[in-house]
Amino acid sequence: MVMPSPLPLLTCCLLTTLASAQSNSRELNLMPLPAAYRLGQGQLSVDHHFFVTLSGYKEPRLDRAVQRFLHALSRQTDGSDPSPCIGTCVGLGVHTGHASKPLQELGEDESYTLDITPSGAILNAGTPLGTLHGLQTFLHLVQATPTGYAVPAVSIQDRPRFPWRGLMVDVSRHFMPIDSLRLTLDGMEAVQLNVFHWHLSDNQGFRVESKKFPKLQSQGSDGHFYTQSEIRGFIAYARDRGIRVIPEFDVPGHCTAIFAAYPELASGPGRYQIERQWGVMDPAMNITQEHTYTFLDALFGEMAALFPDQYFHIGGDEVNGKQWDTNPAIQKFKQSHHIKDNAGLQAYFNRRLLKIVTAHGKTMMGWDEILAPELPKSIVIQSWRGQQSLADAARQGYRGLLSNGYYIDLMYPASQHYAADPLSGPAAALTPEEKRRVLGGEATMWTEYVSPENLDSRIWPRTAAIAERLWSPPNTADVNSMYRRLKIISSQLDSLGLTHNSHYIHELERLAGSTDIEALKVLADVVEPVKEYTREQTAPYPATSLTPLNRLVDAVSPESDAARTFNAEVDSLLSSPAPATMADLRATLTAWRDNDAELQPLLQSSFLLKQDTVLSTTLAQLGATGLQALDYLEHNQPAPADWKQSQLAILEDAKKPKSQLLIMVAPAVQRLVERKPSTAK
Ligand code: ACM
Repeated sequence: MVMPSPLPLLTCCLLTTLASAQSNSRELNLMPLPAAYRLGQGQLSVDHHFFVTLSGYKEPRLDRAVQRFLHALSRQTDGSDPSPCIGTCVGLGVHTGHASKPLQELGEDESYTLDITPSGAILNAGTPLGTLHGLQTFLHLVQATPTGYAVPAVSIQDRPRFPWRGLMVDVSRHFMPIDSLRLTLDGMEAVQLNVFHWHLSDNQGFRVESKKFPKLQSQGSDGHFYTQSEIRGFIAYARDRGIRVIPEFDVPGHCTAIFAAYPELASGPGRYQIERQWGVMDPAMNITQEHTYTFLDALFGEMAALFPDQYFHIGGDEVNGKQWDTNPAIQKFKQSHHIKDNAGLQAYFNRRLLKIVTAHGKTMMGWDEILAPELPKSIVIQSWRGQQSLADAARQGYRGLLSNGYYIDLMYPASQHYAADPLSGPAAALTPEEKRRVLGGEATMWTEYVSPENLDSRIWPRTAAIAERLWSPPNTADVNSMYRRLKIISSQLDSLGLTHNSHYIHELERLAGSTDIEALKVLADVVEPVKEYTREQTAPYPATSLTPLNRLVDAVSPESDAARTFNAEVDSLLSSPAPATMADLRATLTAWRDNDAELQPLLQSSFLLKQDTVLSTTLAQLGATGLQALDYLEHNQPAPADWKQSQLAILEDAKKPKSQLLIMVAPAVQRLVERKPSTAK
């Protein structure tokens, strides 16, 4: 595969009237689905002679993107024929209209068209951002066919629905090595996300080298921080992929790590140490003293220069006010300034902070707690406590982003995130002008229970579903289609080196101390971590930042594909009892019933697996219960009332968390016992 010197753009005439993706019966294997496309006839072969030509606007970033594209393509093509191309080689002509902004800006043109016929392909984009997206789309269309690799003939017109499509990663609760985050950027590029929001400081760590305040990293990071040079490299890497990098320094709460270095900034007497516990903590900055503003001006000045993006996130969430209430000087300040409550005090702080952030040339953004009428409309609100604050902000003239509904740390299934739409709920009633203030959304990866080892599996593939929600038209909402395509993008993300799938097997092998994990996998395949923030309440061990994340709960996927398949089969059986479905369910339930006997010796052999004993016996019980329910169903007999009652009691218990895990097939077994189809979509 070669990249010859640029040729004139291939000319071609594809159909120009495009139907919406929804009206097309043959769906593309893409995530996100394009805004509009129409499938053509035939396919374009992609072999090792396939070439790319660049025309129009050129820059080194585009050359690098083409090199990456060809490298990725070379892994998907057959290189067994070393002969030179004679006569009929096909390729992709890429035409870019003009430069994008020297510093990527919110709302730049990211659109592109991609026309593929059996004789060649043309990618046309106004700016390099569209070109980057179009190259990704082409790559994801490559599939194996009986005659070799190929992409289907298709005409795509694509552009994002929202200009702000982000992923936040918290590197304070658990530090994430820069290489892991680079891979995260690779995944983001693949699903057309364009903002990496870096939650860089919190109670558990301050993660950036400061040259002005070196104690921040020496006292506040346990040695885990990014050097300024690493950060510059990371930002350049992101820019190459069409991704902006927004830093967040959370103030005036969530800053115990800063107080570990500079206790005089706090509202209560020190000493302070890096926090090891999770939750909302009392320490908050003393925002009534001038010294705090001098410090923030200097620190934010340094950080504003390091992070070139226009937007600068100041956090602002979850200040419980306890330290303010117990500090007499702060109480006196409130009185003398006629500030009636702590919300008013924080609004005072935000007004002063805004001046600092603005003086350093930045646009301030923060979590929804910062929304207060006194602040100018230039700030951006990130809505996390509910969708109402987003609608309120838009109505009051503020721009905002949705994160409520995209909290991937809550361990919800992709379908739940997919259903959250920035313009649904309270935002649905906004006027068109107000709706334009809704810039998009961000998935949030809080990392209390995320380590570098399982970071990928907590982000992917579910974040791809959120990426589609933010990119594709709102009527791209078919959940079955989403799951079908999620599986495909998940394996494409694997090939970037992300470990969301491979991590699972490695962790099971580590827990088992063996590669013989068949029985353990039967159990692990149908369980999920407990939802929301119940993990601490269900932990029989200390849950701090020093606790290793090495249990079964840390290995399993946030969403069980096996359970989803089982649930769908149960629903199918309950609506029409086909013998093949019955046989399939019988085989699955029998495997569960018999698995415990196989698995117990392994569970007993490992102190980390021993705690999963009850989980395994419960799955066996569910298998037995389900088989009995199938017998009644098959013989068209009503289940005896006393049996039903005893099984329902067992099922209630089976649905409760065990070793911080939920057996996700219990509700479907219950439906078999009750013979009620699911009401869930
Ligand atoms: C947040 O989740 N505290 C923004």
